[in-house]
Amino acid sequence: MGSVASLAQRVEQAVGTAIGAVLPDRRDADPLVRRSDRPGVDVQSNAALSLAGAAHRSPAQLAGQLADRLGGVATGLPGAVSVTGPGFLNVRFDDAALWGQVAARLADDRLGVGTPQAGVRAVVDYSSVNVAKQLHVGHLRSTVIGDALVRVLGFLGAEVIRENHLGDWGTQFGMLIQYLVEHPEAPWQHDRLAPGVTAVSALDALYRSARAAFDADPAFADRARRRVVALQSGDPDTLDRWRQIVTESQHAFQQVYDRLGVLLTEADAAGESRYNDALPGVVDELVRREIAVPSHGALCVFDPAFTGHDGAPVPLIVRKSDGGFGYAATDLATVRDRVDRRRVTRMLYVVDARQGLHFRQVFAAARRAGWLPDDVHAEHVAFGMVLGADGRPFRTRDGDTARLSDLLDEAVASARRVVLAKNPAISGAEADRIAELCGIAAVKYADLATSRQQDYRFDPDRMVSFTGNTGVYLLYAHTRVAAILRRAGAPGESAAAGAIGGSDRAGEPAAFPAPDPAVPVAPAERALILALDGFGEVAADVAALLEPHRLCGYLYELARAFTAFYESCPVLAAEPPVRGNRLALCRLTRRTLAQGLALLGLPAPDRL
Ligand code: ARG
Repeated sequence: MGSVASLAQRVEQAVGTAIGAVLPDRRDADPLVRRSDRPGVDVQSNAALSLAGAAHRSPAQLAGQLADRLGGVATGLPGAVSVTGPGFLNVRFDDAALWGQVAARLADDRLGVGTPQAGVRAVVDYSSVNVAKQLHVGHLRSTVIGDALVRVLGFLGAEVIRENHLGDWGTQFGMLIQYLVEHPEAPWQHDRLAPGVTAVSALDALYRSARAAFDADPAFADRARRRVVALQSGDPDTLDRWRQIVTESQHAFQQVYDRLGVLLTEADAAGESRYNDALPGVVDELVRREIAVPSHGALCVFDPAFTGHDGAPVPLIVRKSDGGFGYAATDLATVRDRVDRRRVTRMLYVVDARQGLHFRQVFAAARRAGWLPDDVHAEHVAFGMVLGADGRPFRTRDGDTARLSDLLDEAVASARRVVLAKNPAISGAEADRIAELCGIAAVKYADLATSRQQDYRFDPDRMVSFTGNTGVYLLYAHTRVAAILRRAGAPGESAAAGAIGGSDRAGEPAAFPAPDPAVPVAPAERALILALDGFGEVAADVAALLEPHRLCGYLYELARAFTAFYESCPVLAAEPPVRGNRLALCRLTRRTLAQGLALLGLPAPDRL
């Protein structure tokens, strides 16, 4: 079935048409339709105020003319129009139109949400962790935000390619491999490790030892340098060891991805090493076209747009003075590959805000080189830091960056306390299961719910709270709606809902009739319907602005609107046809919550 325009969108359309009729030369003007909280008004258009000057009449006059048009037959306006104040055009939706939206959305697998991203082919570069290193708290944001964007873009019709741009190449591997060669007794492969120790934590520790040896022992440093050369020149034994390190690391990362419930698999890995062979060509071409120039023995791109504090241009180093290619060269090769071979039209880089200058420089250089055509969008989806409870960058007690898995364990432990306090009678195994589900959801939600540009404090106790804008609150809100539907005897309502493209309407019986449009809409119902009707617009905003927190805020408001509705409008105790209409609202709320949670990468259990 097709997409369902929201009532607000229909007003936008109608006001747009009226503007075209009254002021033909301004027919493309923004109808400026907004939600209104004035009593008796659902949406208002401020178009008359902004257009009056150019139209040489007063805003009130223009508003009156537009209202006359809108009040006419067959304008498609789903409500009654009035003019107030200096020239506000107000619309109050008809009750039948409100129920009509509920019916149309319920009848559609996709809740009437359209596919505004159809035709877009996007690559999302996210997680992008470094091999042989532990996942730390900084990787949480890229992984969770990137995954939500993958899901939202996909739901809205884009073709999405996930890329985990693993940091799997560099001179550090030479040093690590040399150390492993000289210490064959040190265990690091997963089948040789104690339970609870992952290959990456073992490798991370071994890397530190290697680093210490490198600094302390010039002979080892020499052997390590020779190992780097062996790696770069493709020595089979060295490459073999390197491959093992990558494989073991990926295996460890996958455990965290699975625990987090993100979509990434090993097949999504497209590490830096993959672009090695392309680097000389990339740099040669930049040099040949005089985009990159020699500077202090290195090859750099200078762009007057990027200057430092002293006004001097900041170089983008594509080849270092030791002849090695750097991070920038790899990213340029990646851009070229994504455009030429992957044929993407949109590239998202979900990476720490501190890399902002790097990406601006890379995109600018790629545009100069013609590798990034104007019609391909490249966006750095920058995010802020995760801070500790003290508001400082997150550190462990010994000053290390906090391990992601430790933070997840902490949140799960907090969730377990909350769950047991709420329901002391449950078994230990049951408490464990619910705590894992709620703890992980709480961490993901807390991350997604803060606008990504901001830093936030990692506060497990607040994240797992049952009240406020938390993931746990939303999961429980979903279970409450599901419980009402169960009590109403809704077969099929217990099926997992909200899966992308999935439908839970199979087997939904005639006992659930379409809402009766003649039933008057109570105020709390009106607020809930308007919230439900806005889901698709919020999803489209998330895809356009790449800001998942908008969806979090929306779902929180939706859950609150449902609570207010449920407190003032009895559902199961109501008589038909009111009962049927209220059940329709419950069904649509449940499916919208479940779909929204799914887009954030969160589960929507029917019970907890
Ligand atoms: N591995 C890098 C880091 O940990 C992030 C890579 C981001 N993606 C990219 N295409 N540069 O800082």
